[in-house]
Amino acid sequence: PVEERVDLLMARMTLAEKVGQTHQVANIDPDADAEAIRAGRLSSSLYASGATGGNERDEGVLVGNIDAAQRHAVEGSRLGIPILFGRDVIHGHRTVAPIPLGLAASFDTDVAEAVGEIAAREAAVDGVAWTFTPMVDISEEPRWGRVAESLGETPVLSGRLAASIVRGFQGDDPSDADRIAACAKHFAGYGLAAGGRDYDTVSVGENTLRNLHLRPFKAAVDAGVHTVMAAFNDVDGTPMHAHEHLIREVLKGEWGFDGVVVADWNGIGQIVFQGVAADDREAAALAIRAGVDLDMVSGAYLAHLEDLVESGEVDLALVDDAVRRVLRLKFRLGLFERPYAARPGAANAPTPETRAVALRAARAAHVLVKNAGVLPLDPHADAGTGTGTGTGKVLLSGPFVDEGEALLGTWTLDGRGEDVVTPASALRERLGDRLDVSDGRFSDRTLQQARRADRTVLLLGEHPSRSGEANSVTDIRLPHGQLDVLRAVAGLGKPVVAVVYTGRPLDLSEVLDLSDAVVVVWHPGVEAGNALASVLFGEVEPHGRLPMTFPLTTGHIPTSTHQRPTGRLIRADVDLDEGRYLDALTYARLPFGFGLSYTTVEYGAPVVSSPTVARDGSVTVTVTVTNTGERPCREVVQLYFRDPVAQVTRPLVELTDWALVDLAPGQARDVTFDVRAEQFAYAGRDLCARVDEGEIVLLTGPDSARLQSTSITVRTDS
Ligand code: IFM
Repeated sequence: PVEERVDLLMARMTLAEKVGQTHQVANIDPDADAEAIRAGRLSSSLYASGATGGNERDEGVLVGNIDAAQRHAVEGSRLGIPILFGRDVIHGHRTVAPIPLGLAASFDTDVAEAVGEIAAREAAVDGVAWTFTPMVDISEEPRWGRVAESLGETPVLSGRLAASIVRGFQGDDPSDADRIAACAKHFAGYGLAAGGRDYDTVSVGENTLRNLHLRPFKAAVDAGVHTVMAAFNDVDGTPMHAHEHLIREVLKGEWGFDGVVVADWNGIGQIVFQGVAADDREAAALAIRAGVDLDMVSGAYLAHLEDLVESGEVDLALVDDAVRRVLRLKFRLGLFERPYAARPGAANAPTPETRAVALRAARAAHVLVKNAGVLPLDPHADAGTGTGTGTGKVLLSGPFVDEGEALLGTWTLDGRGEDVVTPASALRERLGDRLDVSDGRFSDRTLQQARRADRTVLLLGEHPSRSGEANSVTDIRLPHGQLDVLRAVAGLGKPVVAVVYTGRPLDLSEVLDLSDAVVVVWHPGVEAGNALASVLFGEVEPHGRLPMTFPLTTGHIPTSTHQRPTGRLIRADVDLDEGRYLDALTYARLPFGFGLSYTTVEYGAPVVSSPTVARDGSVTVTVTVTNTGERPCREVVQLYFRDPVAQVTRPLVELTDWALVDLAPGQARDVTFDVRAEQFAYAGRDLCARVDEGEIVLLTGPDSARLQSTSITVRTDS
């Protein structure tokens, strides 16, 4: 019925009204835009602050403006086509969860889905019907600020989490009042911006795109994502907004994607800056041919598409295809039946239920990367006596101790600092007046406070304004001055726990050397303090794992798990302190998948159910994991593979599956993975998917650097 309804509607539309459906404005103003809306010259809006109130955060303003604008469209325009309101609801709407890179550290698809679900529900209350997440650009470049919004460096982790986020936002029925449309972005290759400089050019061949960068997009499309956003970058000289091959042929043709391809902000206009179109008119022609359906804010479609069709330069069928996709989405979302905000006037603040999801996610994002026996902290007071095991007096120091807003992270349009439980408040709850707090600035006062305390918890890292869009850096060391404080406090000889707030992998070498324990917590969201306190005091076991490699130094970049073999053998015995860049090829300061718990876990060797597997068959791989310590844990058991001989160079190791396994102290469990031979498929020299006959190495372990292997042979017979 959706297609029939689209047909009937399109049969009644003028060309001008059709073009209106391809135009998205930045910020709708129900009064100033009333005439354009009634004339059917506007399809969608990104924001909705309008003339009635500049501050979108004021209760009800967002929904008030959305509904007022919608009324003009539904009741005042000739065809009554509703407006589609989008908004960047990235890792929460009002209840902010960890940044996506932190969600990726959970390796937990249920957590990712639950975060999407609560974000969708809160956004829907405000009249938002569409969000621009998940960002699935493979992110292996720490200098690039946008890694904060990514799901890390591997296609399988990114793809699976993306599918869960899509499910969380869209549910089974996208017309459900509590669900909104998702958007897989940025198609494609955005993570390859030269040197991590946001928006920069991308030089990559289609084989690498297919074997790596396109895979999470395919996973999102297979999960039913309704929209895909084009990327700002070019790919080998062709701006993505003009990339007919990748958008029209691969995404829409080969993969059968029938949703909307939206431009990124002025992405069509930028084709002119990229020097591939002389003006907006030419840019509009290139973009509509490439398959970009909805023009985000450039206005090039609105200004030129009609004329381009009438002059015969652009085929009407291309415009019709774009309009069909936009209308299809509006029907699928139930906008024609329910154009207005679901529950006008409903309160939209974090509730105990949404906070529980945010807390679960924030805890799961905490990655313990060093522990020389100082964690978990014992909340008892007796450390000062010299004989006790308790924590005694604690100094909590650093720029994030009592900060709300900064702990929300990048892209939090609707989050509020006052909703954040800060580290100081959560630790004070446990320690009372045994907690002393300083802002972490290097001063005699901070040092005196540290001297008086039995241990210091130092909150280090970067403000969210240093990561996210347009925030690339040349140096991934900690911001200026933080190491001075750490050096001085560590010099006192008392235990130091470093907590690292960050939107990217940092150079943590000195932090790891000087601190007794280090926890990477990303930007954790509204439950930041509660999550930190519960992990530090061992109320929950840390179980996050790094979704990106942490390099030794800035100069060590690029580093990633999917390094392909070069023609030279890699030496394992080099002295990395000599800065021998070439030999550090596969070394990581902290490898992908790494993270500790408060216990120790031993891994047995992987055992396969059969030494051979048919190309269309499967085997099982079993590994025994044993908790050899005294505390329970949640282990992220990881399965990688290597294809030693293929048509093209293949990664030295590639994550293909993982399992979250709870282990009681002393408990051993056999963890079994079903492995289909098609998991080893790759694009060959002809760019077609293939599974080769021959050896595949399967590797299991706790992270990408501590793996034990076995081999199987893929057979061509069934
Ligand atoms: O969703 C974003 C995109 O990721 C970057 N440019 C702007 C878009 C809309 O705000």
